[in-house]
Amino acid sequence: MSLTIKFSKNAPAKSDCLIVLAHQSNKKAALITDGMDEELAALTQKALAKEGSYKAASGETFVLPLPEHKTLSRLIILGVGDIEQMTAQTLQQAGGKLFPTLKGSKSKAPALFIPKDGLSKNIMAGDTGAQLAFGFALRSYSFDRYKSKKKTDDENTPSDLKTLTITSEASKDIENTYTELDAIKQGVFFARDFVNEAPNDLYPESYANALKNDLKPLGIDVEILDEKKMEKLGMGAIMAVGKGSERQPRMVIMRWNGAGKKKDDAPLALVGKGVTFDTGGISIKPGAGMDEMKMDMGGSAAVVGTMKTLALRKAKVNVVGVVGLAENMPSHNAYRPGDVITSYSGKTIEVLNTDAEGRLVLADCLTYVQQKYKPKFVINLATLTGAMMVALGHEYCGCFANDDDLWHDIDKAAKEADEKIWRMPLDPEWKKQMESSVADLQNLGKSGRWAGACTAAGFLEHFIEDGTPWAHMDIAGTAYIKADKPTVPKFGTGYGVRLLDRLIAKSYEQA
Ligand code: BES
Ligand code: MN
Ligand code: ZN
Repeated sequence: MSLTIKFSKNAPAKSDCLIVLAHQSNKKAALITDGMDEELAALTQKALAKEGSYKAASGETFVLPLPEHKTLSRLIILGVGDIEQMTAQTLQQAGGKLFPTLKGSKSKAPALFIPKDGLSKNIMAGDTGAQLAFGFALRSYSFDRYKSKKKTDDENTPSDLKTLTITSEASKDIENTYTELDAIKQGVFFARDFVNEAPNDLYPESYANALKNDLKPLGIDVEILDEKKMEKLGMGAIMAVGKGSERQPRMVIMRWNGAGKKKDDAPLALVGKGVTFDTGGISIKPGAGMDEMKMDMGGSAAVVGTMKTLALRKAKVNVVGVVGLAENMPSHNAYRPGDVITSYSGKTIEVLNTDAEGRLVLADCLTYVQQKYKPKFVINLATLTGAMMVALGHEYCGCFANDDDLWHDIDKAAKEADEKIWRMPLDPEWKKQMESSVADLQNLGKSGRWAGACTAAGFLEHFIEDGTPWAHMDIAGTAYIKADKPTVPKFGTGYGVRLLDRLIAKSYEQA
């Protein structure tokens, strides 16, 4: 569930709340009055002059009750910060921060007024309105599938807020710019929903079926490999991880062929870890906080969310998405520490810890996608290591890349998408540490906990063919958060969808 954004030249007749913009100039709030009702503008200026502490920083709001007004109950000033420093990203964050204020104000039909000439000659109305609306929409996401009493049952609760109307002389421009952003929003929400789903409902089979049902109608080709097919193909790594569970593994291959004239172009490959629940298996995790391991499919969610966005905006590019879905459970059938398994690549792996399962799932997906599709690049996303979270917390994703050009494209896309990422080192030393004295490889680094995120990357590197540009994004800290951010409410974040969409749009799509 989220809010509807509408676009109109005029505020709806029943509008009870008007939102206007102010920027910051010489550390003071400067109301943007162009096109505003003169009486209202004068009144607001007066209130601002009295209330000296409001500075119109980006996302800072000021609520002015209007008890005397015919229709409006209140006016809200939304700060957009210093115009010189303003970017699409700061506007999105300001839009996001408006949401809690508006929700708390009990407004039912708010209208956000955008001056027809935008904020400056560099930031036209189309961008201003669309980016503010995009940030607002991203933050307005809520997941209420498991609430038996829908909040809307109760009159006058904040959730009476169902639409935001963007009003402007330039409403058509704003709406046009917003259309592409809406496709991104839908991909992000698709990803968040899967992460937030409870693990008794979301397991490999149900997840695979949901992907088929939701993505096929959009023109994405969806193929599901079940346990029998994977067994037959020799995918011993993902199969070992899923063995302990009643719910058997799946691999889902999604193809979007939007490249038009160049239909036969080699695809870009996105691979995601989809461990629908990670107990650790026989190397079981401590109980406290284990519920959060329902988010261990966050990498797969980013992949499927991106596929959805690409299809919705009919991206002119060929992309293949592969997600490895398994549930890591202890049982009499579970794989054990000490087991030696044979991965799809043919490489044998000594299992030293059944909780280092993500790399095993990814190994078979990586081999499959490279052998079958000879992709231009492979990017995998995974909630792979606690060590990554220790290093970068919930703020940054860590990225290991074997190709500088690919890394630079990712870095640029991340800035544009407002999803933070930091490059981490790949080193032959860590790759070597993953060699076993019993089998070809082992799934634990020889230096124990030290450089745990790097040794995990070193393990994956063994499954990358020479010459394939590859990046591994460890999203352990960014896939799931417990405190709201400006454009991301707590819990499943959908991290990666915006970044991958921008990467593809900027660097790989035909004009
Ligand atoms: N899914 C976890 C990593 C994780 C931890 C993600 C916390 C998000 C938050 C992964 O499968 C795991 O258990 N990794 C182990 C690896 C270790 C056994 C080498 C870890 O990080 O402790
Ligand atoms: Mn694990
Ligand atoms: Zn895991």
